[in-house]
Amino acid sequence: MHSRPYFLRFLASISISVSIPTISALRIPPRGGRPLQPPSVAHPLSRIVSPVTLSKALEHGGTNPNISPIVAVDIRTQDSFAESHIPGSISLPFSGTTSIWSTTSEDDDGNTILINFPSSESLFPALSAAGITKEDSHVVVVGDNGTHGAAAASRAALTLSPYAGMKAENVGILNGGFEGWASGGFEVETDSVHEEHRASSDWDAKLNDSFVVSMQFVLDHLPLVSEKSAMLLDARPEEAYNGSVQQDLTAKLGHIPGAVSVPASLLFTDEADGGKFLDGKDLKSLVGSKVNRYFGDGDKGIVIAYCRTGVLASSWTWVLSNIGDRWRAGENIFLYDGSAQEWSMHQDMVV
Ligand SMILES: *[C@@H]1O[C@H](CO)[C@@H](O)[C@H](O)[C@H]1NC(C)=O
Ligand SMILES: *[C@@H]1O[C@H](CO)[C@@H](O)[C@H](O)[C@H]1NC(C)=O
Ligand SMILES: *[C@@H]1O[C@H](CO)[C@@H](O)[C@H](O)[C@H]1NC(C)=O
Repeated sequence: MHSRPYFLRFLASISISVSIPTISALRIPPRGGRPLQPPSVAHPLSRIVSPVTLSKALEHGGTNPNISPIVAVDIRTQDSFAESHIPGSISLPFSGTTSIWSTTSEDDDGNTILINFPSSESLFPALSAAGITKEDSHVVVVGDNGTHGAAAASRAALTLSPYAGMKAENVGILNGGFEGWASGGFEVETDSVHEEHRASSDWDAKLNDSFVVSMQFVLDHLPLVSEKSAMLLDARPEEAYNGSVQQDLTAKLGHIPGAVSVPASLLFTDEADGGKFLDGKDLKSLVGSKVNRYFGDGDKGIVIAYCRTGVLASSWTWVLSNIGDRWRAGENIFLYDGSAQEWSMHQDMVV
């Protein structure tokens, strides 16, 4: 029987470099293993978590009540989860168009817009029921492998922080997704354990959603785009940007005027190599060459990321705000959630 607590606690004595996503060295704890750090320190996991790091974190669980509980949140489909998952992980699927992570809405003309950020009324109770607390939990999002899996995981990570108000340092993404874990030979379980989750909750009704922007926001910033003090970052594949392919859910060919093509797939290794995030150094140099350079030498300027429905653009938004140094969601990096799906129904696109 599965007797390990769902919310495994993490040894204080594991110290991992914080902001650079790497497969980090683990410091061996001194004998005696008392907590080295007071409660409420930043959780010592990096933002992009390797399977080995997550595995050690989970292995060391259950021993230190002073450090935030680590929760592996599996966003794959219910079926995939039922087939196989990381022991102790929680299933909160991000699949279909409506889930705890996404809603469908209608615009003023009655058009359906798929995959919008959820309301606090549906999100907070679901997180709470899953036993995740805003202040204390450390969540590692487990998705599918490949670009689209990592983009969905980025979207879920953004939904936790900053959207739902968790601290950015308390939210990570499992690099390579569940497949990366399983193919690395780490332990999986197939039985679904249905445990009562803790109901205690510190979620309040306020969303930190200023980074999620509307079509009007984009329209208002088009003059800044022409003078290159705002960058409209198109995260779709290049053939969608340049209009040689028309994706479904998109009413016109091409891109928003002034947008720059920076496909989300650039953030990841080849699909053949598992579609993992590039390592920290390469991600930083990509941010430098594809984004910072756009603004010349200045450190002024804002980025508005979009794609087809807002999922691929989430991976750029998450990477910029988590490892992009000067980029802060809601301050200078924004996500146009309506994306080409909404824009193409109302505005011109160019090829
Ligand atoms: C559009 O992008 C695709 C993919 O990169 C490329 O193969 C194609 O030649 C491009 N078409 C035009 C018109 O630039
Ligand atoms: C994802 O994992 C599956 C199963 O191992 C594999 O067949 C597929 O090639 C992987 N895809 C990517 C993009 O890594
Ligand atoms: C909202 O999110 C930003 C990061 O995007 C963060 O700097 C800020 O502290 C957050 N505000 C609240 C009230 O959580």
